[in-house]
Amino acid sequence: MKLLVVGGGGREHAIIKKLRENPAVETIYALPGNGGIAADAVCVPEIGAKDIDAIVDFAKAHAVDFAVVAPDDPLALGCVDRLHEVGIPCFGPDAKAARIESSKVFSKNLMHKYHIPTASYQVFDDPAKALSYLRTASFPIVVKADGLALGKGVLIPQNLEEAEAAVKTIMEDRAFGDSGREIVVEEFLTGPEVSVLAFTDGTAIVPMVSSMDHKRAGDGDTGLNTGGMGTVAPNPYYTPEIAQVCMETIFLPTLAAMRAEGCPFKGCLYFGLMLTPDGPKVIEYNCRFGDPETQVVLPLLKTDLLTIMQAVESETLADLTVEWSDGAAACVILASGGYPSHYEKGLPISFPSAFPANVTCYHAGDKLTADGTLVTSGGRVLGITATAATLAQALSDAYAAADTVAFSGKYMRRDIGQRAMRAMEG
Ligand code: AMP
Ligand code: GLY
Repeated sequence: MKLLVVGGGGREHAIIKKLRENPAVETIYALPGNGGIAADAVCVPEIGAKDIDAIVDFAKAHAVDFAVVAPDDPLALGCVDRLHEVGIPCFGPDAKAARIESSKVFSKNLMHKYHIPTASYQVFDDPAKALSYLRTASFPIVVKADGLALGKGVLIPQNLEEAEAAVKTIMEDRAFGDSGREIVVEEFLTGPEVSVLAFTDGTAIVPMVSSMDHKRAGDGDTGLNTGGMGTVAPNPYYTPEIAQVCMETIFLPTLAAMRAEGCPFKGCLYFGLMLTPDGPKVIEYNCRFGDPETQVVLPLLKTDLLTIMQAVESETLADLTVEWSDGAAACVILASGGYPSHYEKGLPISFPSAFPANVTCYHAGDKLTADGTLVTSGGRVLGITATAATLAQALSDAYAAADTVAFSGKYMRRDIGQRAMRAMEG
């Protein structure tokens, strides 16, 4: 079989490595892929993940049997719709269903209408009305741009002055472009956060092993928000009892709501949850695999990934048994110094001759130079994942391996998984 994966980060590398485990897979094309992915797939750097016309032409010309669209942008732009039009089976939601991530107004209204627990909220398209509301609000409060904003469109003002600045940044200065035409202002919730990725064919749902992201740049959850500096799985806060509550009050109602709205969701639905004192609530939905959650979740998957993705496409997921390893996984991101603000690119990376058998290096932001050297090309450069029987062992192995990779300015958080370890110690 010939597969095509749209995207070129660590998440896509993890998906590609897992798909390759199926012996029927002959070739995987990655559009655009990256320097490290080139060892596992045929990369096409000229075709970006948002070049929908070029992706569809490529898939037709290369007689691709199955496509996986991983990032949010091409999903929101209708990449799956377009591939379906030319008869190519795909994994991923169509554009209508992808609105669950690409419009926070859509997702908040959906949760409100179908009584799915989430923070209470107001929607504004007029900065003056938003400001007069904020003058009566209590702080902290949460201000979110409606559209996609690379995970940066969420601001948490502590007082009225910061709230005024937030409205100005998003709605007037349009720091996130048209994503800031409307805003959602919502109640500030507290509690541990859990990421739950789930396979769904629109009706059946198979939650994956839970995980915990570390979004801030600095140790102790300080500094700017990033795409994610590391992950662990499973998330110790997510007990079987809480999982049951989430299935009944959040997961199944969300799928039913999407069907009732005429946009059944097929693909990987990501539930960003907060375990509040009033029970689990939805912080956000993503219409795709999380990054770097995928880099700890897929290594624990025992069932063949392509088989699951095909069952999602053919709406036969209910017939499949999906199995997971009992152990734990930890992923430490090696970032460019300065990320998520300004950082240098093009710095050569040196690797050990081999990683231990339980360690995988997922490439996120690197490229091959003409002479075949891997150099940095993004903020998040590599994700080093270790799997082990315990989280403590996975963390120690991931950090030991992370220390054997070098590039100028290499930066990592040193406390990935510490909150999870403390939670397990009780
Ligand atoms: P989002 O992009 O919606 O996931 O938001 C980014 C981060 O902002 C989340 O991971 C939370 O840590 C935080 N956040 C978002 N919404 C809320 C909320 N209503 N209350 C508290 N924190 C929030
Ligand atoms: N790690 C968070 C996300 O993928 O949105």
